[in-house]
Amino acid sequence: MPYRKELADVANRGLERIIRDRSCTGAAPAASSARIMLENKQLVHFSSNDYLGLANHPLLKDAAAGALEACGTGGMASRLMAGGTTYHHALEEAIARLKGTEAALALNSGYTANTSLIPALAREGDLILSDALNHASIVDGCRLSRSRTVIYRHRDVAHLRQLLASESGTRKIIVTDTVFSMDGDIAPLPDIVTACREHGALLYIDDAHGTGVLGGGRGTLHHFGITPEPWIIQMGTFSKALGSFGAYVAASRTIIRWLINSGRGFIFSTALPAPVVAASLAAVELIERDSALNKKLWENRNYLADELHKIGIDTAPSETPIIPVMVGDIETTLAAAQKLFDQGIYAPAIRPPTVPTPRLRITVSAAHTREEIELLCTLLKEVMK
Ligand SMILES: Cc1ncc(COP(=O)(O)O)c(C=O)c1O
Repeated sequence: MPYRKELADVANRGLERIIRDRSCTGAAPAASSARIMLENKQLVHFSSNDYLGLANHPLLKDAAAGALEACGTGGMASRLMAGGTTYHHALEEAIARLKGTEAALALNSGYTANTSLIPALAREGDLILSDALNHASIVDGCRLSRSRTVIYRHRDVAHLRQLLASESGTRKIIVTDTVFSMDGDIAPLPDIVTACREHGALLYIDDAHGTGVLGGGRGTLHHFGITPEPWIIQMGTFSKALGSFGAYVAASRTIIRWLINSGRGFIFSTALPAPVVAASLAAVELIERDSALNKKLWENRNYLADELHKIGIDTAPSETPIIPVMVGDIETTLAAAQKLFDQGIYAPAIRPPTVPTPRLRITVSAAHTREEIELLCTLLKEVMK
């Protein structure tokens, strides 16, 4: 049987990935994305990227239902073939407003965005400088581009500057996650922006885990008070704190026009369906007018970090709602995740090759209660013994 040997090898090393299905029937689990039903077991979800708990928010559900009624389920063809809907247009205006740019474009997923936009921006003869811990979709986007990619040490601006000075390229593009998805630390954007300015480089940021979370929800540039310059390209997703699905790029009108004409994942893929787009739009509008969920998220995040410190768990390098907890080797981490599962907490083990060191990747959201956070800490204390 083809691939049986390869699969056995992955399984023997404790690295086989399996899919578990959440149950979507029954009233209780659907009421909040922080509580899920998995394998007939009610669990508190501490591994979701739904930081604001919007994935089950009535405003998003109503918006999706309205668009479903008005426009149906399918995207029909690519935007360039079938046209977008007024929902797509309104969403792009809202994102440009939120991000302080002239224009924006919706894309089908964060993965599609990075694998389409990076090759469109970095052409033959150009140079990409990429953080060592960037998301896999950025890594793949760099691989797909015809330019040369050089990796700089994680968050190391001195190394980045050294490479900017020593490496050549027609255009130089620095690519970085804003919030690193497995460690929860933040890219030193003010210093990176200064380095870009000095070297005339472009900056492409992936704000997937910053949007809705940092800067009162507006994202990482806003968090640092950085002006969205025409040479900064902001990409992010609707699939995390915004509780929906899809991605965006926000930039100057010229860059967006270029991406419409060169982003292969935009040109050659069916448009996002209107219900998904309407839900994303409702989320962006909610973030713009109401900071309550963002405040609650940070209250919960700080409470969890304080409680973890009290029981001797080091939360470094996390600065955000993503908190890696290092339990030990692959086997110990898997056993810890199983123990948590047995006691009602869902926080699966994250293993290589996703991360270099195995860990429980804990994420906390605005939808968690104090009691749920306390339960997590009590159980973590037990599994860390
Ligand atoms: C930093 C980062 N970029 C991009 C993606 C891909 O986004 P999507 O899930 O919308 O494809 C992810 C998702 O895990 C991510 O963490």
